[in-house]
Amino acid sequence: MSDSTEPGSYFVANYPPFHRWDAAAVPTVLEAFASPPTDAPLGLYLHVPFCRKRCKFCYFRVYTDTKAADVERYSQGLSREAAIVAAQPAVAGRKLRYVYFGGGTPSFLSVKQLEKLVAGVHASFGWNDAEEVTFECEPGTLSEPKIKALRELGVTRLSLGVENFDDKILEANGRAHLSAEILRAWEWICAAGFPNVNIDLIAGMVGETRETWERTIERTLALQPDSLTIYQLELPLNTTFVHDARESGAPTPVADWKTKREWVDFAFDRFVAAGYAVSSGYTLVRDPDRVHFRYRDMLWEGSDLVALGVASFGHLSGVHYQNATQWDDYLSAVELGQLPILRGLRPTSRELLIRETILGLKRGRLDVERLRTKFGIDPVEAFARQWAQLEAEGCLAQLRPAPVLTRRGLLMVDSLLPRFFEDDLVAVGGIGG
Ligand SMILES: C[S@@+](CC[C@H](N)C(=O)[O-])C[C@H]1O[C@@H](n2cnc3c(N)ncnc32)[C@H](O)[C@@H]1O
Repeated sequence: MSDSTEPGSYFVANYPPFHRWDAAAVPTVLEAFASPPTDAPLGLYLHVPFCRKRCKFCYFRVYTDTKAADVERYSQGLSREAAIVAAQPAVAGRKLRYVYFGGGTPSFLSVKQLEKLVAGVHASFGWNDAEEVTFECEPGTLSEPKIKALRELGVTRLSLGVENFDDKILEANGRAHLSAEILRAWEWICAAGFPNVNIDLIAGMVGETRETWERTIERTLALQPDSLTIYQLELPLNTTFVHDARESGAPTPVADWKTKREWVDFAFDRFVAAGYAVSSGYTLVRDPDRVHFRYRDMLWEGSDLVALGVASFGHLSGVHYQNATQWDDYLSAVELGQLPILRGLRPTSRELLIRETILGLKRGRLDVERLRTKFGIDPVEAFARQWAQLEAEGCLAQLRPAPVLTRRGLLMVDSLLPRFFEDDLVAVGGIGG
């Protein structure tokens, strides 16, 4: 297999993969909503699909050139959807453990728009007792009053899309912000006193060299974020980079996977030397006893996740689902008082075991006891062939009492996961989302 960054998805976000989800399962999803709740933790995801600009590597459902009236209609749509969902037997009366505002760019909204949105959703879902409320921000959309307002609205974990500190690289990749905006926002963020501030970086953006990457890492380290997330650039088919390359006939010049892994390895070493702990194949945290990422950990361990917004992905009572992916379809459904479900899938118990095994492996160490208790199957035995392969490839540091990946394995974890898929899916691999 080529090591170059070919167009296609690399990141494994879920299992079974999204191409297996279909409209025929919508009644199953509706049935899950209408049934009594499970005792799994409950989280809430809100998708805010607006951005100042579309990044050339972005593969999410986002809209640019948005008018205030669009934001207003969408925000009312989210509030309507929250009311519909909160009234369902599987959700009614349950306490939210975590909330995640993702995008798109949630910080695209003005303070007024944010306050209105939060008031609208709060009418159905309070989150004063939630352990974590994450909010994704693009640096150039932030102002001091907006950051203060976010803290007052209950945000506990602010996630800042820095991606890189080099202005030429930021521009070449279609980012809406430049480095000066990161530094300006950082002062306000520190002053606001969020319990957890995360920085997102991407290794291998177009134009990146070892030198520019090392500079970005040193500048990030100087900020001392509570946590750092590093993704390796992938080129899903629906990105501007892939469309442009198709038209011009010239491939997008992105570093190969080996180079990107070396860059992330360097970043991990630098941060570990500064006292950070590795908390997954993508994340380092400054103080593991204090800094948590509930959304990731609860979702990866099979929590329920109610998903609000266009194209959002959710999981309820063991059933996967996705909302309508088109603006009008989504809004007309919620405006009619209906759940806007587009497709779904009820995984088998074996598929859920695979899901939690591969998502768990992204953390670098499998929680065998938890999986054995939940599924009645020992994943060390059930996947003996896969563990043997990983060991032979230098990706497994230990098998018992629980599988632990080597640094090499951890930095390429997504490419290791398709071998755990059931046979009919192995050739297809993972699909990001
Ligand atoms: C859903 S995006 C939202 C970012 C937010 N709009 C901002 O401007 O900061 C969340 C993160 O996904 C990562 N990401 C997006 N596209 C990617 C790609 N093609 N490859 C790797 N990481 C990607 C980026 O690090 C980004 O911060």
